[in-house]
Order: sequence, then structure tokens, then C-alpha cells
Amino acid sequence: MTDFTTTYLGLELKNPLVASASPLSKKLESAKRLEEAGAAAIVMYSLFEEQIIHESLELDHFLTRGKDSFSEALSYLPEAGAYRLTPDKYLKQVSLLKRELKIPIIGSLNGVSKGGWTRYARRIEEAGADALELNLYYLATDPSLKSEHLEAAQIELVSDIKSAITIPLSVKLSPYITSLPNFCSRLAEAGAQGLVLFNRFYQPDFDLQELEIIHTLELSTSEEIRLPLRWVSILYGKINADLALTSGVHTAKDALKAVMAGAKVAMLASKLLRDGEQSIAALLNEMEWWMETHEYESISQMRGSMCQKFVREPSAFERANYMKILSSWRDLV
Ligand SMILES: Cc1cc2nc3c(=O)[nH]c(=O)nc-3n(C[C@H](O)[C@H](O)[C@H](O)COP(=O)(O)O)c2cc1C
Repeated sequence: MTDFTTTYLGLELKNPLVASASPLSKKLESAKRLEEAGAAAIVMYSLFEEQIIHESLELDHFLTRGKDSFSEALSYLPEAGAYRLTPDKYLKQVSLLKRELKIPIIGSLNGVSKGGWTRYARRIEEAGADALELNLYYLATDPSLKSEHLEAAQIELVSDIKSAITIPLSVKLSPYITSLPNFCSRLAEAGAQGLVLFNRFYQPDFDLQELEIIHTLELSTSEEIRLPLRWVSILYGKINADLALTSGVHTAKDALKAVMAGAKVAMLASKLLRDGEQSIAALLNEMEWWMETHEYESISQMRGSMCQKFVREPSAFERANYMKILSSWRDLV
């Protein structure tokens, strides 16, 4: 019997496949289907800072203080109805999933600035969440904003949220950080017990005819695993936090690669949205078959076997690989 168990954020999980934040947690039926198919835990869709502020008196506060850019930012938001679940409904959904499911439920807050909205971290804990994922989705567009200031603000936010809760905290972050290992290490020092690699930034396109920006959400493919795979394998063993890999996990082999790189869990969203919640069961069966065939007894035995921990000069190693890959093209023609 293959031992599939793993731990993540101190939670005992029956296997390393976790349903990543997605609309599948908005409905009890689909959350139940995820559990039945074998998902080890569910990360809920995010409650956004903007949603909370929108609903609270803070909106008046910001508006009366003449924060034009803030009120303009609010005007970009979808209509209230499009959120479907307001902050209070979000908390009710956490409680409902906790009551109806046995697997751990991880709440998700999505925000970047300090402020009253962070009290929802505590509320999500009180609603019963087993852990909280903080998503730091932010695209810096202001040339005067220094990366050190942005990073410092994000670290402070993590520290504030951590001090407000007793459940474990993970942070979902961007891959576009100049010195990612240093930032990750500071996030861990600030209280992040898990790092979720990475946020998948949606990429807008242009409609040349209408001169409009096209906002489309395209689901990922397995190709996209390479970015988080590289970083999990670089960070494994160097950062005092559990690593979760998200982006591009579609097959059993993708999930096995995530574990071999050093991830405690592989998170899935696109695969489940495309092929249905039950598709997780087939992945688990195939993972088991693969592990038995290759004589692995447990997930923990496999974890980190492909990490870069034992490479003495990882940056030089990466440059050498880059040179090799470029020159291999010449060999082909
Ligand atoms: C329709 C959809 C909704 C999502 N909603 C959230 C969300 O609310 N919060 C969040 O942190 N990530 C959200 N994500 C991102 C996923 O959790 C995941 O990190 C990303 O899609 C990459 O994983 P994948 O390749 O398995 O799709 C969403 C993704 C999709 C496709």
C-alpha cells in the first residue's frame, strides 16, 4: 500500500491533492463532489479587500477624505450582484463547508493594503476555517513605487494578519519578484507557514478592431507547471515554510513532479473546472499506479528528490542550463 499522506500547514492530509481557490467552493454540491473524489482539502475562492471595503463604512471614510484614486478604483469593480457572495455570505459559506465536509477548509483573503478589512482574517477563523490563505495579487504599475517598499508593505500585512489569527497562514504570491528566495524567507519570518507558488496573473489581450481590451480567463495547461516547478525545487529546504504548487497541475505526472520538486501539496483549479470535480479520483489512481511501478512507498519518500538543494551554485547552474539549452538548438539544425 502506498502511503499518500502528507502534512500541510500542520494539517494532516490524506493525499497531496488540494482543490485550489476557484468557484467550485461557492456551491456545497461541488465542494462535496471534490471531497468524494478524494480532494485532501479545499481552498475557498477569495474574499477580496475591495469587497469588504465596499461594504463597510470605510468606503465613506476613504471617499470623504478625497481619495480620488480609491473611488476610481472602486468604479472598476464588477456590480455588487456580480460578486454573488458578500463578506457575510462568505463567512456563512465557510461555516457551511466546515459543517458539511470532513476535509480541511482553507479560507482565502485577497488583498494588499493595511486596513480594517484584515479583521476578516479573524472572522474567517471564527467561521471555522482550518487555515487561511492570503493572496497578494498586485501588479505594480507606478514607476515611483520601489520594490523594497512594496515588499515591506506586504511583509507587514502578513505579520498583521498572522497576529490576528491562531490558525495557520499561507501566502499566495507572484513569481515576478527580483529576489524571490529572499522575499519568501521574509514572508516565513513574518508568520507565513506556507507559500503558495504562484498566482496566475491573467493576461489581457487587445481587440484591434474595437480598440478595446479583451479580458478573458483562459484555463491553464500542463505547460504552465514549469514556472512553479522550478521555484519549488529551488526553494525546497531553504525556506522555513511548507510549499504548495499551483498552476498547470493537470495530470498525475504533474502532481508527482510537484512533490518531487518539494511541494507538500499540488493544487488544482483549471483541471477541475475543465474535467469536473470527479477527475481528481483518476489522478489519485494513476499516481498510486506510478508510485507502485517505480517502487515508491510514500509521498514523503519522494518529496524533494528533484530539488536543487544539493546544487552548490544554483544561479550558476541555471545560467549553465540556459546556455546548454540555447546551444542544443544549433545541434538540432
Ligand atoms: C475561474 C477561476 C477562479 C479563481 N478564483 C480564485 C480566487 O478566488 N482566489 C485565488 O487565490 N485564486 C483563484 N484562482 C486561481 C487558482 O486558484 C489557481 O491558483 C490558478 O488557476 C492556477 O492553477 P491551475 O493551473 O490549476 O488553474 C481562480 C482560477 C480560476 C480559473
